[in-house]
Amino acid sequence: MELIAGNWKMHHGGRDSLQLVEGLLERLIAPLPGEVVVCPPATALFMVGDRVQDTPLQLGCQNLFYENGGAFTGEIAPIFAREAGVRYAIIGHSERRALFGEGPEIYRKVQAAIEAGITPILCVGEQLEEREDGRAWPVVLEQLQESLQGLPPEKLAGLAVAYEPVWAIGTGQTASPEDARYMAARIREELKAVSGLRILYGGSVKPDNVDGFMELEEIDGALVGGASLKAETFARLIYREKKG
Ligand code: PGA
Repeated sequence: MELIAGNWKMHHGGRDSLQLVEGLLERLIAPLPGEVVVCPPATALFMVGDRVQDTPLQLGCQNLFYENGGAFTGEIAPIFAREAGVRYAIIGHSERRALFGEGPEIYRKVQAAIEAGITPILCVGEQLEEREDGRAWPVVLEQLQESLQGLPPEKLAGLAVAYEPVWAIGTGQTASPEDARYMAARIREELKAVSGLRILYGGSVKPDNVDGFMELEEIDGALVGGASLKAETFARLIYREKKG
């Protein structure tokens, strides 16, 4: 099933997140084309989780730790996220890799999420220089191998992988649908033993360009940052209505 996830990053505190959810719920009246996940900041998870219960929206978080308790100041335990109603977790987002040095521990986060009953949205993607050097696929392959090491395909059923070229995030530039299709096809081939795998494209997805990605057979959804921050725009994107 199609999956659209809105990554609100460190925008919107609890009150603004709730307001955005209300705005979305007002607009999402017709049957949704697929699953829609909202990923507010951690401080809003419980509030938003309570509000979206029994609605068509699902709750996601933007990061998780790999332990379920202990002396880990500032971290988010997967089971606590689950308690707030979290069903999906963005793991290994490029901002976490670049700004917070994430990398080697990502596979432990993927595993811990799955064990807590949370579906990972694992993010992979190359930098601009890597693409220009013709290394986009080898870089993504290495990220996949590192992030999923030791996890047999049976454990990964239902996994979502978001292909997000780093140079396309928050820049207004996107991969061409052909490049996105190529990378998604390679990812699918690499993970062909994983049942129910979903591949999302992310990086400056907007109502005006979402169709170009969603109509590709290899792509099952989108991970959306900026265009998910306003109810009106996010709803148009979900229903793929181009005009404002
Ligand atoms: P963007 O962000 O849609 O604003 O480019 C995507 C993301 O960071 O997941």
